[in-house]
Amino acid sequence: MTPEQFRQYGHQLIDLIADYRQTVGERPVMAQVQPGYLKAALPPGAPQQGEAFEAILADVDKLVMPGLSHWQHPDFYGYFPSNGTLSSVLGDFLSTGLGVLGLSWQSSPALSELEETTLDWLRQLLGLSDQWSGVIQDTASTSTLVALICARERATDHAQVRGGLQGQGKPLVVYVSAHAHSSVDKAALLAGFGRDNIRLIATDEQFAMRPEALAAAIAQDLVAGNQPCAVVATTGTTTTTALDPLRAIGEIAQANQLWLHVDSAMAGSAMILPECRWMWDGIELADSVVVNAHKWLGVAFDCSIYYVRDPQHLIRVMSTNPSYLQSAVDGEVKNLRDWGIPLGRRFRALKLWFMLRSEGVEALQQRLRRDLDNARWLAEQVAASGDWELLAPVQLQTLCIRHRPAGVDGEALDSHTRAWAERLNASGEAYVTPATLNGAWMVRVSVGALPTEREHVQRLWQRLQAVVA
Ligand SMILES: Cc1ncc(COP(=O)(O)O)c(C=O)c1O
Repeated sequence: MTPEQFRQYGHQLIDLIADYRQTVGERPVMAQVQPGYLKAALPPGAPQQGEAFEAILADVDKLVMPGLSHWQHPDFYGYFPSNGTLSSVLGDFLSTGLGVLGLSWQSSPALSELEETTLDWLRQLLGLSDQWSGVIQDTASTSTLVALICARERATDHAQVRGGLQGQGKPLVVYVSAHAHSSVDKAALLAGFGRDNIRLIATDEQFAMRPEALAAAIAQDLVAGNQPCAVVATTGTTTTTALDPLRAIGEIAQANQLWLHVDSAMAGSAMILPECRWMWDGIELADSVVVNAHKWLGVAFDCSIYYVRDPQHLIRVMSTNPSYLQSAVDGEVKNLRDWGIPLGRRFRALKLWFMLRSEGVEALQQRLRRDLDNARWLAEQVAASGDWELLAPVQLQTLCIRHRPAGVDGEALDSHTRAWAERLNASGEAYVTPATLNGAWMVRVSVGALPTEREHVQRLWQRLQAVVA
């Protein structure tokens, strides 16, 4: 494709995206296709000769679009908001179009410096002190893996340069709540801790980690001759948005020289609202924290922000220094390849920068407050209705709800819950996520897609009542 052709088709593609965003509300929210539908429609191999771009775009419309569940739809209440503000979409497009890579500061100086600057802006917006330095990772899963690797290396005084974990006498232990995201478990396994050394700490009636249970588990490990290494706390758990008490956990972590990593992947966005900051009171006791700007905040996927208090430790754990990447200014600059796992880095800061500049902080705050208000309104309707129940406190924008007809309980109630959630999703009118809580099925309603206004939430409440009728 020549630059002139790119200009022509690029305009068409932007039109396609703009039209899609304007009319996405008319589509069924959840994809209405069967497994294998797309594979069956595509040829078995790549074309030998190039095809007209019009033909490719036509197939996007005919083949790809029907196979999408629409996260930017006003009736999307699934999983969590993953908002791609259009300003950030343009930033992402520009990043790809420029085609530059950050291997070192010198390989694209603006890439490193814009990342440093925008993450410092975001740090201030989140209310974090200037003791924190940030770097963009792809996802929270990676951020948490990086955190646990750093914890492992701090606890072993850099065993990586000796025999690694295999040379350690005492097993290193990681503590998480039973409500932590599965990515935490995965990170602990990938970082080499081993299933036997992951402790699931009990939670209270609000699904938050119980600090006294954490302290007891650490004491037990010390008696058993194990080495407590790290605790991962969550601000806004995936199922219920529970808030682990960071201050109490942080004090226990400090007393026992544990690394404290805070997973605020989803709820971290809410910290741009000063009235929400109580939720991570004690955050300054942590060693690392992850906030996914690609969730509720609105930066097009992927843009996971990892903040650390001791960047020198991170660099020591992650650095590589082959001769072809060395430059005369290495002593003066940040080489972000040393701040995470990949060598090559995309220019992700552009999409964060575009969004912050184009939307402005006040509009972002207003949107999040809108979503909190909408969730609160829906929670009031549920609480006031005789046969619906809220199964967890509504701290943010996620509701855990259940419809309980008189006399229906146990397995029959589970079947009823799963059946109506499936009916609602299959209708294409709204998309919610069934999940289990305390061993029973309920439905998560996650409010906060970009175009979701009060009228949509009111319509959802009507649909919920209709679907169980
Ligand atoms: C609390 C929490 N942590 C981690 C993750 C994983 O995020 P990512 O997809 O960026 O790895 C999620 C996403 O669902 C989450 O809700």
